[in-house]
Amino acid sequence: GRVAVLLGGTSSEREVSLNSGANVLDALRARGVDAFPVDGIPALIDLLVQRGVDRVFNILHGSAGGGEDGVLQGLLDAYRVPYTGSGVLGTALAMDKVRSKQIWLALGLPTPRYVRLTRGGDVHAAVRALGLPVIVKPSCEGSSVGVTRVFDASELDAAAALAARYPGELLVEELIRGQGEDAGEYTVAVLDGVALPSIRIVPAGEYYDYHAKYVAEDTRYLCPGLDGEAEAEMGALALAAFEALGCSGWGRVDVMRDGQGRNFLLEVNTAPGMTSHSLVPKSARQVGIDFDALCWHILETSLA
Ligand code: DAL
Ligand code: MG
Repeated sequence: GRVAVLLGGTSSEREVSLNSGANVLDALRARGVDAFPVDGIPALIDLLVQRGVDRVFNILHGSAGGGEDGVLQGLLDAYRVPYTGSGVLGTALAMDKVRSKQIWLALGLPTPRYVRLTRGGDVHAAVRALGLPVIVKPSCEGSSVGVTRVFDASELDAAAALAARYPGELLVEELIRGQGEDAGEYTVAVLDGVALPSIRIVPAGEYYDYHAKYVAEDTRYLCPGLDGEAEAEMGALALAAFEALGCSGWGRVDVMRDGQGRNFLLEVNTAPGMTSHSLVPKSARQVGIDFDALCWHILETSLA
């Protein structure tokens, strides 16, 4: 059948998605799939109306014009066209960091302490509750867009103003740090119900921000990120977090680990990056799945 690789769109992560999508398209074609690019949801709607697509590989990142917030999934369900990744519920919940945390906390899964801020809410009150340092984020963006780490109260208003440039609520979260040897930022790819080896991310600068994610060549990635029992625990936590949100198919769970070896869930990505710098391909390679095979495998999960 004809496979639309849905990419681009109008979210803040458009450039990342164009990049991911081009790689996916090449990989599927190399495997003999009749694949073609479709830029954004309006163009896909035209194709659906014309019955010009049999399956969708969703690599459209982000919300508000992206493909990770349930809108796309509802559309495709209505047309009965299968697609890669999570359904309406899983994508909508995973895109919303506040709701993700509420569910994890209700289930006893660890996530950094936080305050939800509605637009115009008092960010200083949030910090009085949490203490400094914090990280201020738009609740529904990706790729670190709109995110600021705040160490001094004088930086709070600017941080909130930046996050408020994006739609939806704001999230003020305790900043997890640690001096321990294996403290820091981790991510776990999930493919077809299995957690792949974790990756520990060691940015050359202080933070794994947009630049460190997509531009820098000196960000270091250790895979697997941990050994033995700690690695198994990280994988189990990621799977539990993914399933708690009703996610399926494939995705990536981001985790912080503190100096005492405690893990904290940050978020789930339901259409994670597939750029040359991205993490899911690195983790798959570690278990012998090359990029083309990975894309094929993800496409296969849409058959269910
Ligand atoms: N939001 C980006 C694409 C990622 O999680 O990889
Ligand atoms: Mg994300």
